[in-house]
Amino acid sequence: MASKQDIERIIEATDIVALVSKYVKLEKNGKNYKGLCPFHNEDTPSFIVSPDKKLAHCFGCGGGGNPIKFLMQIENIDYQEAVARLAKDAGIDIKSGYQDNKNKSLAKYYKIMNIATSFYSKNIQNTKDGLEAQEYLNKRGLDLDLINTFKIGLSPQAGSTIYEVLKDMNQLELDMFDVGLVDKNVSGYYDMFHDRIMFPIINENGDTVGFSARWYKGELKGQPKYINTRETVIFKKGEILYNLNLAKGDILKKKRFILHEGQMDVIASYRSDLKEAICTMGTALTMEQARLLKKYASHVIICYDADSAGIKASRKAIGIFKAMGMQIHLVLLPDKMDPDEYVMKYGSEAYKDYFENNMVDSTRYLFETSLMHKNLNDSEVCEATKAEIFELLNSIRSATEIEEYLKKTAEVIGCSFEAISDDFTRYARNHTALTKEEPSYPSGGDFAYPEYPPYQGEFVPPYDDINGGMVPELILVNKKQWNSICELRLFRYARSSKQEALYINRVLEDRMEAMSPDSQRLWLALVDNYYANYDEFDEGLFLKIIKEADLLTYYCDVIEALNGDKTPYSEDDRNECLIKLKEIKYYKLMKSLVEKTNLSENDDEKIKLVTQVWNLKRKIDELKKARRK
Ligand code: GTP
Ligand code: MN
Repeated sequence: MASKQDIERIIEATDIVALVSKYVKLEKNGKNYKGLCPFHNEDTPSFIVSPDKKLAHCFGCGGGGNPIKFLMQIENIDYQEAVARLAKDAGIDIKSGYQDNKNKSLAKYYKIMNIATSFYSKNIQNTKDGLEAQEYLNKRGLDLDLINTFKIGLSPQAGSTIYEVLKDMNQLELDMFDVGLVDKNVSGYYDMFHDRIMFPIINENGDTVGFSARWYKGELKGQPKYINTRETVIFKKGEILYNLNLAKGDILKKKRFILHEGQMDVIASYRSDLKEAICTMGTALTMEQARLLKKYASHVIICYDADSAGIKASRKAIGIFKAMGMQIHLVLLPDKMDPDEYVMKYGSEAYKDYFENNMVDSTRYLFETSLMHKNLNDSEVCEATKAEIFELLNSIRSATEIEEYLKKTAEVIGCSFEAISDDFTRYARNHTALTKEEPSYPSGGDFAYPEYPPYQGEFVPPYDDINGGMVPELILVNKKQWNSICELRLFRYARSSKQEALYINRVLEDRMEAMSPDSQRLWLALVDNYYANYDEFDEGLFLKIIKEADLLTYYCDVIEALNGDKTPYSEDDRNECLIKLKEIKYYKLMKSLVEKTNLSENDDEKIKLVTQVWNLKRKIDELKKARRK
């Protein structure tokens, strides 16, 4: 452990504004700096950095703290590592043993990969074969500048060149093997990459962790177009993103990143002045990668190949980003092209232009691509497509938007608008429409809105966590109190008249489960037993019809609590209570989904669950807004 004095020196020596600025765009605000919190989604800045106090703190979610705590949270690292990194940045030498052992043990691997990177790079620049490879790249629009920027190289033809180079530099064979540069057979070690253009995959710290090696000598003749480094201690395909090292700054500046399928596409964007582009390593996007990206920006523009594989992958990526609560746009290029092909055909300016002017939101993308490449004359395919579209439309609120999509659907599948509308209405009725109408809440006027609810507890949203949008746990504070108070109030209104009781009963239908079991029983007694036989409420009569002793006790508690409640009766208040019960219902549902998510070990299922949680969260936010008008 670093000593207390060491820690103080490190904090003192850290420029917290510079540190935070690596992740957050800050603006000066008096003595302090202000920005959008990197730990939760927000539109107005509540993240304050105080250079004097050496603090970076969010007043919205409570995230952040001193430089060490900030770094731990934003980089997802432990205390030791955060201290070690800050010490290194500040040039403070904390005695050996304080260094991060993990990084230290990996250092030899990075060293090997960095040697290989510069070797391959020299090889493309200084050899006859290299010239040929450069010609190939030139033809694909990459000049020497770009080749240098991306540290692109060439692996030699000979069988064990990189092996010899590394050996001459006293690197261990086993280490070369561990990073996937060499393999071994009966006659000894040999290189993994021959005669291919080498794209180094560089991590956030600037170290090469793997290579993507492209064949460039004419036809493929059965060999793979790209050979990527296999999974190694330092190369985890599910965690690494190509070009994140160079793109970081632009992503922060533009507050968005572009996700492509291949590195040639990333480079195509780069040379079209869209430098915030990155891609995965020929594998599907993972939650891990999305989480890493969300640290930098919460707006993604997915631009995959416009073929059916690219569309399928885009739809999957949408699911992942939605689950993380990100803003999502997509660009679908014409004629099944990929970005690189588009740039080659129309030029980088045309590409940038197309890119900026053809972004669609995820709903539109999901809608449009649902209808693509499908034989809608096959009635089974047609019905499945309709169901897919209906599910999508059922989640949006705007009636005009729904109408527009339905019209387009009718046009494409060749039926009348009336028919498709009928189908959709039927679908919506049979599927849990989370968008169901709420009792409208009339706006204030002169009505003094009572200080309500008297609950101190607040739901801690599952998405605001520092893990970047995953769901760690759900905490309901003082739920019981909140819950019971709106239940109680409804009894008060129900006792005031039969008409009130029946109205409430109707609304309660879809949120009954939000009440405690006792309240549910009491409610049944009141409506089904009492009001079914009497038109006016009479306490004595009601008490008589309650048969169960425990329910009677419960009712007495209810009366007592209501007697202490001095809030004036009002329709607004009654509606508030009803809306709140709906919120509680969603919270409960959300809680069980969160529990399920935490237990789930299947990524696809997890994404589905988290998406549902997010939908619920959105509904709850809408309900809250309705209440607070
Ligand atoms: P270019 O043909 O050079 O333009 O590549 P591309 O980016 O258009 O490649 P493509 O869309 O075919 O593939 C996207 C990414 O998948 C590439 O960047 C590679 O990382 C990976 N990939 C493509 N082909 C292969 C292959 O044959 N084997 C492996 N392992 N990965 C591949
Ligand atoms: Mn391509």
